[in-house]
Amino acid sequence: MYDQQQIHQEVKQWFRQVRPRILEGRERGLDIENKTSRLDLVTNIDKETEKFYRQKIAESFPGSSVLGEEGSKDDINNAPGLFWVIDPIDGTMNFVKQGASFASMIAVYYQQKPLLGYIYDVVHDHLYWGGHGLGVYCDDKQLPVPENTALKDGLLGVNGPMLMSNYRNLQEVVKQSAGARIYGSAGIEYIHVLKGKCVGYLSHLSPWDYAAGSILAESLNLSVKTIDGKTLDVVSSGDVLVATDKAYNQISSLMAAE
Ligand code: IPD
Ligand code: CA
Ligand code: CA
Ligand code: CA
Repeated sequence: MYDQQQIHQEVKQWFRQVRPRILEGRERGLDIENKTSRLDLVTNIDKETEKFYRQKIAESFPGSSVLGEEGSKDDINNAPGLFWVIDPIDGTMNFVKQGASFASMIAVYYQQKPLLGYIYDVVHDHLYWGGHGLGVYCDDKQLPVPENTALKDGLLGVNGPMLMSNYRNLQEVVKQSAGARIYGSAGIEYIHVLKGKCVGYLSHLSPWDYAAGSILAESLNLSVKTIDGKTLDVVSSGDVLVATDKAYNQISSLMAAE
């Protein structure tokens, strides 16, 4: 069994080391490519950051399996030891257009069980990290468990296209909340929910978008599942809802009604 603290001491250094590479790399000028469309971008910094993490993992934790958005994709179900999920830049569109509101994320599993989650708010230099039995920290400060706020009393983070198309009654969900917010980075959205600044966040996400945030959310007793109540398997993409228990139940009922 790997010791969470031993892994943490190593991994937290990696985020400190990628920060200047990411910020200075953007200043120098980005190589930007369309992946599947003009709305789905990848830059040289996305690729270089993932390569950096992969090298560090191979050096410090040989024998690990890795699933990364910009590289090879191992399967958690065939990972006997440590399994790492990497989203090198989450919110690439924000990174390119604004140079703000993006994150870098890593999730760590051991024998298919969640061990540690990391969301690094690069611009503000805040590392949100934690895991089962540890709680969740912003740098060295422990976050309190968020209040079990009802939907009507909280802001809801949503995916823009899902809101515009009224996906499964989402506009009614938003009407019953205190308002919608669209930040454009799953990592930044999760941070708002972890801190109790939003009552929930709903989006169609891939494993590298939801893995780290979900480990942190579970450590704070938040509900994090698909909107149909399925457990997230770190293999499939799905409609992920992270929310307080009260808001989760209200949102999933409203969306089931469609
Ligand atoms: C994207 C962002 C965005 C979410 C998309 C993700 P990326 O991640 O998190 O907020 O709506 O579904 O793909 O591609 O910038 O890492
Ligand atoms: Ca992407
Ligand atoms: Ca992402
Ligand atoms: Ca990404």
